[in-house]
Amino acid sequence: MCGIVGYVGARDATPIILGGLKRLEYRGYDSAGVAVVNGNQIEVRRDAGKLSQLVDLVSKSPLKGAPGIGHTRWATHGAPSVKNAHPHLGNSGRVVVVHNGIVENFLELREELTSEGVTFNSDTDTETIVHLAEHHMAGGLSLEEAARRTFNQIDGANVVVLISADEPDKIVTARIGNAGGVVIGLGEGENFIASDIPAILDHTRKVIFLESRQMAVVTKDSVRIETIDGGEVKPEIHTISYDAVSAEKGEYRHFMQKEIHEQVRALTDTLAGRVDFQEGRIRLPELKLTPELAKRIQRIYITACGTAAYAGMVGKYLIEKIARIPVEVVIASEFRYSDPIVDENTVVLAISQSGETADTLAAMEEGRRKGAIIWSIVNAVGSQAMRVSDGSISMQTGPEIGVASTKAFTAPLVDQYMLAILLADMRGTLDETNRRELVADLRLIPDLAGRVLDREPEVEKIAHELKDIKGCLYLGRGINMPIAYEGALKLKEISYIHAEGYPAGEMKHGPIALIDEEMPVLCLAPQDPWHEKMISQIQQAKARGGMVIAVATEGDELVAGMADHVMWIPKTPWMLSPIITVFPLQMLAYHIAATRGLDVDQPRNLAKSVTVE
Ligand code: M6R
Repeated sequence: MCGIVGYVGARDATPIILGGLKRLEYRGYDSAGVAVVNGNQIEVRRDAGKLSQLVDLVSKSPLKGAPGIGHTRWATHGAPSVKNAHPHLGNSGRVVVVHNGIVENFLELREELTSEGVTFNSDTDTETIVHLAEHHMAGGLSLEEAARRTFNQIDGANVVVLISADEPDKIVTARIGNAGGVVIGLGEGENFIASDIPAILDHTRKVIFLESRQMAVVTKDSVRIETIDGGEVKPEIHTISYDAVSAEKGEYRHFMQKEIHEQVRALTDTLAGRVDFQEGRIRLPELKLTPELAKRIQRIYITACGTAAYAGMVGKYLIEKIARIPVEVVIASEFRYSDPIVDENTVVLAISQSGETADTLAAMEEGRRKGAIIWSIVNAVGSQAMRVSDGSISMQTGPEIGVASTKAFTAPLVDQYMLAILLADMRGTLDETNRRELVADLRLIPDLAGRVLDREPEVEKIAHELKDIKGCLYLGRGINMPIAYEGALKLKEISYIHAEGYPAGEMKHGPIALIDEEMPVLCLAPQDPWHEKMISQIQQAKARGGMVIAVATEGDELVAGMADHVMWIPKTPWMLSPIITVFPLQMLAYHIAATRGLDVDQPRNLAKSVTVE
């Protein structure tokens, strides 16, 4: 949830840290801060609000020295304010901490520390960590041993980074549980620490990921990793292939807009190397699927949160239709509380952009505990979800920075379509003609995506007309029903307009009462098997005075004659239609929010990776 950057080496840490935090601001933007060791002292700058406030502060009051640590915060304990901003100093001023996660036993620890005379200067749970470490150092322990003891005292899922003016050659960090990642970047005579890869890609592509309950002692020339109980760890060094340039906004006003347009490339890359158009076959080697395993599977649970869960709902249609395997979609925060019926013939398939969402990781752990086969569809390379899976499909979309997920929605739709074909093929339930047709349809996707994106100016015009609406109903049926949920989520999270996605057939059982001339109704009515039903839905909404905005297939005169506004999509094979119908909804939400002058990429109260439960 929060973003962390650390640097140890010969250069000044502050510009490196601020540059890295800029790339992590999507993780939290309630406050930001940086601390460096300058000679024999620790100096700290912190401010409430966005990173730009901190950058201003540092330009007026510069910082020199290294090592250093920085933080951008998504508040959990303690309001967003200067006093609650990280880094937090201990009472001696010799130790300083940044943290991501929740110290669940902080009240108890705080009481103990207060009774020993420690003064707390913030309302955060984080501050207990630095006081504990300081206390152990005062008792004669090194920073490393004091940190280790502290890591063993705190409960909950936490990422911690500490530096001390008494040992100015090192940074000590740990990851405990699923509180987000820790990536250690390996440089020449310098090393880096960050919550996520984009923060350090300007400096290195060689990285080590910390696993849960591991800690690292990082100096400019060395990285030593152990478990927090002192066990030996032989880290694996990964080389990251994507570059930092793709994490810049380029010609676009917002990352979200850039990422909407990047979908043509992302979808092309999603297909590359996986679709053999000549043979009419799918290849997903990272999934490690064999015909024996495919035949063994009796049930699939798809588990995910937010947008990723809506992608899973489309996947349910595809896998059940093509591979004829029963699929249930369970929101990850509910999975472990629903006592799912899982055995060794069950697949738990997690979908996650970040691969760090705490609830999704917990659902995967629950699946593992119950003996399931664990698969994931993940965007962030090297993330925890990818690492703990038996097999995975990597999204190939590149970094997604905008808090509102776009390309990490459409890529898993294609991934699940391919997965469904592969499963059906290996189980022998798909005849060759059908298989070849389904595979051949994939070739159309990049072109269809490009054509619908070319219609952005038309969508923008509609967005201008709708910018002052107070609410909106999004209706869909069948395979496009989850697109109604996703479209509504996009609108509410970035424009703060209440929107509700609903299965169109359920309208008459209650929600139709909401429709009047004040309530726009967005109807997904492409040429799919539910088209006729959606036509009657549009008629019902019109009969009650509602303004109808439709997503329809080019040339659909029926819809054109009834709807107040139409957002056109090109003719698309119906099983692929959700990939295309969502584009106008992403663009609509984007332009409504942008026209309202809102902070599209960093909407209030949200963060990109939700690493707390
Ligand atoms: O990183 P994940 O895909 O696991 O994230 C899941 C949700 O938090 C995420 O999709 C969220 O709903 C987005 N803000 C939606 O745009």
